[in-house]
Amino acid sequence: MTDYLSFNAAENLDAAEIDRINAEFYGRFNYPWRAPSLTQYRDPAFAPRFLCQEAGDFDGRAVPPDGDIWVAGCGTNQAVITALRFPGARVLGTDLSERSLAVAEASARDLALTNLRLEQASLNAPHHVAAFDHIICTGVIHHNADPARPLAHLARALKPGGVMELMVYNYYHRIQTTAFQKAIRLLSGTHGRGGLVEAELPMALEMVADFALPGSMADFLARQRGLPEPAVADSLLQPVEFSYTVETLAALCRGAGLVLLHPCLNQFDKISGDFSWEPPLYGTAATAFGRLDDLARWQVANLLMQERAPMLWFYLGHGPARRSRDEVNADFLGRRFRPAQCDTQIHVLGADDRYTSSPRRTRLPAPAVPADPQVRAVFQACDGSRSMAEVLSHLGPLPGEAEITRLRQLLTTPAFPYLLAS
Ligand SMILES: C[S@@+](CC[C@H](N)C(=O)[O-])C[C@H]1O[C@@H](n2cnc3c(N)ncnc32)[C@H](O)[C@@H]1O
Repeated sequence: MTDYLSFNAAENLDAAEIDRINAEFYGRFNYPWRAPSLTQYRDPAFAPRFLCQEAGDFDGRAVPPDGDIWVAGCGTNQAVITALRFPGARVLGTDLSERSLAVAEASARDLALTNLRLEQASLNAPHHVAAFDHIICTGVIHHNADPARPLAHLARALKPGGVMELMVYNYYHRIQTTAFQKAIRLLSGTHGRGGLVEAELPMALEMVADFALPGSMADFLARQRGLPEPAVADSLLQPVEFSYTVETLAALCRGAGLVLLHPCLNQFDKISGDFSWEPPLYGTAATAFGRLDDLARWQVANLLMQERAPMLWFYLGHGPARRSRDEVNADFLGRRFRPAQCDTQIHVLGADDRYTSSPRRTRLPAPAVPADPQVRAVFQACDGSRSMAEVLSHLGPLPGEAEITRLRQLLTTPAFPYLLAS
């Protein structure tokens, strides 16, 4: 199967009409809800260096600290969060939803941000050409009439050598979600038109409160209880939703001239702990798995791990060349690393719905040393004087590729910013 999968957009695939429906939906349900606190990085090089490392560039060339960043489909918080993390960069945030942008603007005002520009625009209209070192587009294109179209515009906007961070829904994570959306649309008579959430929300909430058939749908609905309304709406009432497998995502990206570089360890997978692309295989299956190329390994992992697989959240670059996981691991082993630190400023959302700066002094990484004892031992042995291979062989036998990848993830990425290549 090479086509992408859709459960609920089948009746209406006009891009402008879907944009209108999305603008209405995200005007009614601002997503995400305002963050209770936001973190500002003092060092402009900290976030770009770790981003580059995770994308396989230990020299930090792909995304410079003073680069241009586009947060495409930024919703309420993401452009603000990005401007705070990349204080040396020029950040553009765009979205269809006027209300979401107004929330972002209010936050930017509270925080006196000078490196953020916000614009109401659709990704379905051509925008920029080779203008951005980094583009972030998470949870957006799968809500469009034809996700290939916004992705092509994003690809055109990315500079040669730049890095895009893209997230689309994983088919195996959305089976109940998209099935429920389709059912509620049929029940409420709003099928194919979207927008009529006022008819759908009370009915959906009734089913969340009580769905008497034990099974995966009941479990899914039970997990919605007590969540904020925008989160419930985002799961249960989304007007348009496509979801992908690794195979169909790779095909979508190929169509835009993009390649999957490496997985991005995002905040959701970090919390759930499901960020490994290694299924629990033993014996001949493990040997066969180890011989596959990166794409086939991610495919097998997704097929076997299903709801426990990581999200389809990847760094992309202009193809066709990319460095494989094993090449990046070899580079990692050859590098010397030193501990990283970044002073941060926390801004807290008050009862008056405004952000104010906390007087507390804070610093990344947090916790200051890795929680995992084995990872901690590696961290504590890195002082910039020896290569990672020397550090690891001093601690024991050199681990295999899967374990090296795990160490790389838990030590050198934005989610675990402990070590920087010197
Ligand atoms: C689920 S929210 C994700 C927001 C943000 N990217 C994040 O991860 O927090 C989807 C956002 O994409 C926006 N969106 C959807 N289609 C769009 C398009 N064609 N152009 C611009 N924004 C779009 C919606 O208005 C909404 O704010």
